[in-house]
Amino acid sequence: MQAPPPTTLPADVRGLLQAARDLGVDRLDAQWLLSHHLGRPRTWLLAHDDHPLPEALSRRLMADLSHRAQGLPLAYVLGEQAFCGLALKVGPDVLIPRPETEVLVDWALDLLPAGLPRQVADLGTGSGAIALALAARRPGLRLTATDASAAALTLARANAARLELDVSFLLGHWWQPLAGQRFDLVVSNPPYIAEGDAHLAALGHEPQAALTSGPDGLDALREIIAGARAHLAPGGWLLLEHGHDQGSAVRQALADHGFGRCETRLDLAGLDRCTGGQRCEGPTRANTP
Ligand SMILES: C[S@@+](CC[C@H](N)C(=O)[O-])C[C@H]1O[C@@H](n2cnc3c(N)ncnc32)[C@H](O)[C@@H]1O
Repeated sequence: MQAPPPTTLPADVRGLLQAARDLGVDRLDAQWLLSHHLGRPRTWLLAHDDHPLPEALSRRLMADLSHRAQGLPLAYVLGEQAFCGLALKVGPDVLIPRPETEVLVDWALDLLPAGLPRQVADLGTGSGAIALALAARRPGLRLTATDASAAALTLARANAARLELDVSFLLGHWWQPLAGQRFDLVVSNPPYIAEGDAHLAALGHEPQAALTSGPDGLDALREIIAGARAHLAPGGWLLLEHGHDQGSAVRQALADHGFGRCETRLDLAGLDRCTGGQRCEGPTRANTP
């Protein structure tokens, strides 16, 4: 059984870690919180467990521990998540950027030679993670990022301003805000979990619209692929993140819509994670009667 919350505030690092244990909060999470608020590396805490905590900070940390104990993801408690070396602000209006999405960024970077002013779009940008990672690594890109969530775009714009990275953000449904525009490369990590999937129970704090897409999770991926040719320059690439069991469906959909060189890349766990293809000329199977 969980111990009742302490009535007095912890006075030092050791007391705070003990309070975390009493609340059932993982020690590592408590150390991340301390490290974040004290502006010290986690290793520093190990040698400074008698470091005093001012009352206001102790109160704030106890509130954070209480939110964490109630299941709020650590990134939302901290208000921050690291992605491709960037510290991004995050909150419940956006998906917490995942390490597996770095596979998509690395692939895009492989296709984007440094110093060329390529036109790149990120569909469903959320916190701005992918677009901002590309902007940071390839100065000079012309980046446009879209999302159907105005709240997500507010946060993405704030991240871009804080990191001093140049990205144009547009509100709207997939390709709709990009009417008449063509890109050399389009990346997207759309929602791809099937409605009713058992994994959703553990993701209840993140926005539903960032997670699910139809009965098999493929609705958004199909819609993005179907509209891609009209928005890609000849030879342009479309790179998509998807679920571990969706690689062959995405490759097939790309081939049906006239994409060549279709390939799936794995994440660090060895699971299918991203599939991409290059716009080829000629009729597409999907448009052929
Ligand atoms: C899986 S999240 C990815 C967020 C971010 N790109 C990342 O990798 O962390 C999917 C994003 O797609 C957005 N989205 C969902 N439906 C959309 C739609 N119809 N048009 C544009 N964006 C949409 C969600 O708001 C969410 O931000």
